[in-house]
Amino acid sequence: MTMGKENDASGFKLVGFSNFVRQNPKSDRFRVKRFHHVEFWCTDATNTARRFSWGLGMPIVAKSDLSTGNMVHASYVLRSGDLNFVFTAPYSPSIAVDGGEKSTASIPTFDHAACRAFAASHGLAVRAIAVEVEDAEVAFNTSVAHGAKPFSPPVILDNVAVIAEIHLYGDAVLRYVSYKNRSNLDFLPGFEPIISSFPLDYGIRRLDHAVGNVPELGPAVAYVKGFTGFHEFAEFTAEDVGTSESGLNSVVLANNDEMVLLPMNEPVYGTKRKSQIQTYLEHNEGAGVQHLALVSEDIFRTLREMRQRSGVGGFEFMPSPPPTYYKNLKNRAGDVLNDEQIKQCEELGILVDRDDQGTLLQIFTKPLGDRPTIFIEIIQRVGCMLKDEEGKTYQKGGCGGFGKGNFSELFKSIEEYEKTLEAKRAREPTAA
Ligand SMILES: [Fe+2]
Repeated sequence: MTMGKENDASGFKLVGFSNFVRQNPKSDRFRVKRFHHVEFWCTDATNTARRFSWGLGMPIVAKSDLSTGNMVHASYVLRSGDLNFVFTAPYSPSIAVDGGEKSTASIPTFDHAACRAFAASHGLAVRAIAVEVEDAEVAFNTSVAHGAKPFSPPVILDNVAVIAEIHLYGDAVLRYVSYKNRSNLDFLPGFEPIISSFPLDYGIRRLDHAVGNVPELGPAVAYVKGFTGFHEFAEFTAEDVGTSESGLNSVVLANNDEMVLLPMNEPVYGTKRKSQIQTYLEHNEGAGVQHLALVSEDIFRTLREMRQRSGVGGFEFMPSPPPTYYKNLKNRAGDVLNDEQIKQCEELGILVDRDDQGTLLQIFTKPLGDRPTIFIEIIQRVGCMLKDEEGKTYQKGGCGGFGKGNFSELFKSIEEYEKTLEAKRAREPTAA
């Protein structure tokens, strides 16, 4: 057996995918709306923001920096559809206004020492996963009453917005954002809009899930589940994956409407190759955000745009699967994807998986920065279209799953491919 650490006594137990019964108890402890933004802490926000802007087709739409009167931190907001990324770096503490005067920071939870220590320890990494809630003060107080470790109590911004922070895992925080009055407010108070003259849009529309790597799943899941009330949406263990090559156990937590999805992974020990989660934990110096899955409205277009820029400032992708993967794909998804679409999947290296409800198209970038830590997943979900009370069509959250089936499918297709190479070699005349 190649299980992770023993499940703890918190009542949490991995049952594996096939034994997992999906149900939605709608048990949120406070009203959660959607993902609001993701904030990266770095040492130079200008350069990092521009690289992501170009690589992902997300224009820089707002700023809070020296030019707007912020003497504490430089922050830039990138946007594509409903997806907001914020890149923040510290200025010199010597120029920050203090001595009783009001801080000029637009994000009041920003802390010089913490940001510097964070960047030194983790490299480029996610500091905050922000969710919009109905009332950040209620969300914070309820969370703390249910065991959440507070990082920053609610702060009212300009009388229009409230933010509060809770420890999530490692040095990452869960940030609650709510608005008292959002008229004319594009992001948060203190940010000024930037009008770009260069259109940039590769089709990315929103954050689907934000995944954390933790040393031990049991306590991490029990902790987040405990203070949010989120339910388990899906899980899989190394055994499910079939090959134990994955080296991970995973649980997905979801809010009531299953649009805020927070999966977590733990490493599995005793496999032939070292778990990729263990590698992450070493390079990141502990728990942190492993990947952000971004929904594209047209994954073929997004991939064409992103791949064009891979070598000129954009992001690179993991090696594509062998041709055998796409030969098998017609059997696996021929009812959902036509021949032309399967051909495009192969050309662009897109993986396909499905669950009992829908189909998932997915692809992973290589790590985004220096360290083999955080990466991005681009996805498109097909199916599960429902109608809300007003008759508006929407797609059910998590439709098509998270790509569990691709672990074994990739493994199988690589084995098959290697066999075809062996057969080819046997036919070739041996050199003298
Ligand atoms: Fe994912």
